[in-house]
Amino acid sequence: MKVLVPTDGSEHAMKAVQRALEMAEKNGAQVTLMSVAPYAPEILDEMTPRTQEKLEAETAGILRKARELFEKKGLKVDAVLETGQVPANNILRRAEEGKFDRIVMGSTGRTGLAKILMGSTAAKVVAHAPCEVTIVR
Ligand SMILES: Nc1ncnc2c1ncn2[C@@H]1O[C@H](COP(=O)(O)OP(=O)(O)OP(=O)(O)O)[C@@H](O)[C@H]1O
Ligand SMILES: [Mg+2]
Repeated sequence: MKVLVPTDGSEHAMKAVQRALEMAEKNGAQVTLMSVAPYAPEILDEMTPRTQEKLEAETAGILRKARELFEKKGLKVDAVLETGQVPANNILRRAEEGKFDRIVMGSTGRTGLAKILMGSTAAKVVAHAPCEVTIVR
């Protein structure tokens, strides 16, 4: 089973990473971690030219942390970093093109209000995914 795990490094996303780790350990799931760096050209104009690079470096750090959890247990894992303005679009495209069987993600992330029940990325993925989706609370 191919499992796609989008993470923004948030608490709920890390729970999703843990869930996927269990699936890899117990069921031999083939896990791909994915993190989408924000792309904001209008912000870039006003900030230093290295802003995009910094955003991508931060995203690479999020992926590295998640990846290490698998490597510590000797589990094989893939990791992909993409850049985009609407992370759900990147996630949906990859799920479709990579023929994933399941997406495992958090109910909320880093950018929403603390009390929100489900973030917009999770809601959009649930609504349009070409496969099963597990939302981790
Ligand atoms: N940039 C991203 N890259 C990869 N996965 C992401 C990204 N943003 C969110 N996710 C995934 O989606 C889950 C839900 O986050 P979501 O963005 O929907 O909530 P939020 O940040 O609280 O609210 P919102 O983004 O709507 O303001 C996260 O736990 C994570 O699994
Ligand atoms: Mg978000």
